[in-house]
Amino acid sequence: MNKRNTVTAALPYANGPVHIGHLAGAYLPADIYVRYLRSLGKEVLFICGTDEHGVAITLKARKEGLTSQQVVDKYHLQIRESFQQFGISFDVFSRTTHDLHHQTAAGFFRKFYDEGKFIEKETDQYFDPEAGQFLADRYIIGTCPKCDFDKAYGDQCESCGTSLSPSDLKSPRSALSGATPILKPTKHWFLPLDQYQKALEHYVLDNHQDWKPNVYGQCKSWLIGDGLQPRSMTRDLDWGVKVPVEGADGKVLYVWFDAPLGYITATKEWAIQKGDPDAWKKYWLKEEANGETSLVCFIGKDNIVFHCLIFPAILMGHGDYILPDQVPANEFLNLEGQKISTSRDWAVWLHTYLEEFPGQADVLRFVLASTMPETKDNDFTWKDFQARNNNELLAIYGNFVNRVLVLTEKYFHRQVPENLKPEAQDDHLRQLIRVTAENAGKSIEQYRFREALATVMDLARAGNKYLADLEPWKLWKSDPDRVASILLTALEVSSALSVLFEPFLPETSHKLNQMLGIARFNWNDLLHAKTLVFPGHPLGEIALMFQKIEDDTIQAQIRKLEARSAEIQQEQGLTKSVVQPQKDLIDFESFSKMDIRTAKILEAIKVPKADKLLQLKVDTGLDQRTIVSGIAEYFKPEEIIGQEVLVLVNLAPRKLKGIESQGMILMAEGPDGRLYFVKGSAEIPSGMSVR
Ligand code: MF3
Ligand code: ZN
Repeated sequence: MNKRNTVTAALPYANGPVHIGHLAGAYLPADIYVRYLRSLGKEVLFICGTDEHGVAITLKARKEGLTSQQVVDKYHLQIRESFQQFGISFDVFSRTTHDLHHQTAAGFFRKFYDEGKFIEKETDQYFDPEAGQFLADRYIIGTCPKCDFDKAYGDQCESCGTSLSPSDLKSPRSALSGATPILKPTKHWFLPLDQYQKALEHYVLDNHQDWKPNVYGQCKSWLIGDGLQPRSMTRDLDWGVKVPVEGADGKVLYVWFDAPLGYITATKEWAIQKGDPDAWKKYWLKEEANGETSLVCFIGKDNIVFHCLIFPAILMGHGDYILPDQVPANEFLNLEGQKISTSRDWAVWLHTYLEEFPGQADVLRFVLASTMPETKDNDFTWKDFQARNNNELLAIYGNFVNRVLVLTEKYFHRQVPENLKPEAQDDHLRQLIRVTAENAGKSIEQYRFREALATVMDLARAGNKYLADLEPWKLWKSDPDRVASILLTALEVSSALSVLFEPFLPETSHKLNQMLGIARFNWNDLLHAKTLVFPGHPLGEIALMFQKIEDDTIQAQIRKLEARSAEIQQEQGLTKSVVQPQKDLIDFESFSKMDIRTAKILEAIKVPKADKLLQLKVDTGLDQRTIVSGIAEYFKPEEIIGQEVLVLVNLAPRKLKGIESQGMILMAEGPDGRLYFVKGSAEIPSGMSVR
């Protein structure tokens, strides 16, 4: 591990409040990582702020009838407060609308410009003839060429995460007026990413095979294939950092040029605030970092290309800066089986969560840390939230600590007892403290936060088992000396748990430290097997760390979510969406293994003693074969004779109710769970391949 750590978390757009998806995606993992590093005594600077430029902001301003400045002022405050309430421990939380940032970003641009590192080019850009305005990035909406999502933005598809240019979109339309845009020439400055291709390949493909597979894989698919194309670093827009060049009126820097530089500006601001204006340099400049600073950028998966290729290209182009060493990106978090959606209000917002679960920020941190989408998209459900609180936090961690404290109060008048009769079991448990610190630490250093948390919880489990096995409450009469040693050991474990859980549950550790009456110990103390509690030391008041969450509470949350979302959809004239989130990506090879054919149903009979099954004879063009299909609830056998269908013909045969089924009929599921045929066409004969 490096001596010094610059840790950034993606700057959220100041165009709305933050929800659990944001927290689980970037901010919570970053905070756990940072708190761990601090606990190890490392030098670390944790940087964030709001991203206040770009079309994300101007669109929101239009929608809310506010100025862009009003929008960013409003949401900057709200976002900052939410992060504070959830214990996200930034050293600095800045904003990209600050003067200092405009200077930093314009300075970068000007240096590139002066050194001839941009390509100046007049190109045709989409223009909205009704609104009389060029349509940059999110002002243009269309169908994603990769996944066919029909509300992809001109810079990115939020459904599949692909980064796009406006010209990639199918059926483009203006987000302002809905009009079909026309093309109009305009001048812009392009970063020739193709010229950085080799250097970026070396940087990522050769030197960063240690990046998470999802991150490395996305970079690789950008780099190989067609390779990188020049990308415009300016926009025709009236909100942003003015292009610091003559003849660029009405143009601002592309938000993805200025925003990542916001990390640097924020560090400068931090340095100024602490009265040492040059202190930022060792966190960013190659020369001052002297090989001892590692830069780690936490992001969500939709930010990968910007942080792994474009931002490094900008830093390389400048020449004086260090590059990201790690870019841990999480996948997406779904909510109750559906994609989180701001527009449908299908989200758990941080500010509203705390209104309903006051003082329970740590519970959400815990649940999100346990279910973080580290390697694949994951689902947050209220039932799981309740279960993890009741069965883990409360039943394991809370229960252990509470038992230890209550017994110590009862037998030893709230004083840490002496080690009057130690036995081998005590030592084993103490050793487990050090081993847990080592293992959980390793997991955190590899960005495996769920694993780390599970390891720590296992120590609490071991503590419970120790008490359950030794039953000090039964020994008290006969062997009080032994009870003293048992509780001393259990208090030692409680103190260790406070340290080990601190990166995950900071508020809880603070409470626990007060109950234990201990000073602040850190991770290093555990690694060095330092003693944490001392006989004779007084304990504080016992308070509960966690509360049971009842079924009613959870039901109310689910109902609220559904009601609010239904309301909004009604307003928007949409019916209840039951569209499932997209599954994980597969490669072309996996797809091409499936042999799907047009086919026709020749015969159909009910399968005896099976409500759902029909036995079909199907002409696949290759042969006539038997397929057993679970469609009997929806179709009478006689209605479907002659039906054109699609069949997966190379599905391995399986027996259903004793009948061998040799393939599968493809069906679409309707919103009510009803099945519909995916039809072939009368114009094509059976046996044609579907691709
Ligand atoms: N605002 C962007 C988003 O929410 C993230 C910007 S990260 C930065 O997706 F590095 F560019 F600031
Ligand atoms: Zn897409």
